[in-house]
Amino acid sequence: MNPLNHVAIIMDGNGRWGLKYKRSRNSGHKAGLNTVEKIIKESLKQKIKYLTLYAFSTENWKRPKNEINYLFNLLENFLVNKINKLHEQNIKLKIIGNKNLSKKLSKLLSKSEKKTYFNSKLQINLALNYGSKIELLNAFKKIKRNNEKINEKNLTKHLLTKNIPDPEVLIRTGDTKRLSNFLLWQLAYTEIFFVRKLWPDFNEVDFVKIIKKFKTIKRNFGSI
Ligand code: FPP
Repeated sequence: MNPLNHVAIIMDGNGRWGLKYKRSRNSGHKAGLNTVEKIIKESLKQKIKYLTLYAFSTENWKRPKNEINYLFNLLENFLVNKINKLHEQNIKLKIIGNKNLSKKLSKLLSKSEKKTYFNSKLQINLALNYGSKIELLNAFKKIKRNNEKINEKNLTKHLLTKNIPDPEVLIRTGDTKRLSNFLLWQLAYTEIFFVRKLWPDFNEVDFVKIIKKFKTIKRNFGSI
């Protein structure tokens, strides 16, 4: 049975779900947040150590302002209302991405990270204003600035995922098969599960099925 420490998720399909059922993309994001809560709960149950959620990409700034504002408000409310509960559950929150956001949100994010810093049951990496290409470019720049050798060890220590093991599993919902600039380096040997359901329809039963399937896969890492 394969050990499972780290699951990464591209939570795709919120917009389509919202349009289909409620005639607004934003209502899909709201419903998507319920799925986030279900998956956090199940991750604790499954003793997963790291859960990385792609919440907002560097490319998502191209969306209409009203949708961007809605998403950040949703996140803000989530943190204000739920950070104490996350903390009580021994969950650590880490933001990966460019934290150069509004002053209010940046402050809230740092406060939430600081509060939960020493927690150890589950680490949630929230990929926010995240793009893998810029992460890699910044890592190479740091190597150059420090006059270090270009090798895997030096590169990984300059990534935003420093000290986090690579995900063994990536899930993408929403019936789309692409990586969308997410963890391009870290996913080199990850098992990828593409799911047809839209993110708000995804649930803990789907999640557990994927975990069970993953555990039985023969992982060769290039060997035979
Ligand atoms: C992709 O679906 C989803 C996002 C860009 C946002 C994900 C956000 C959430 C699940 C809720 C907020 C999360 C937290 C942790 C506060 P899409 O909008 O691209 O869907 P589409 O492909 O149907 O348009």
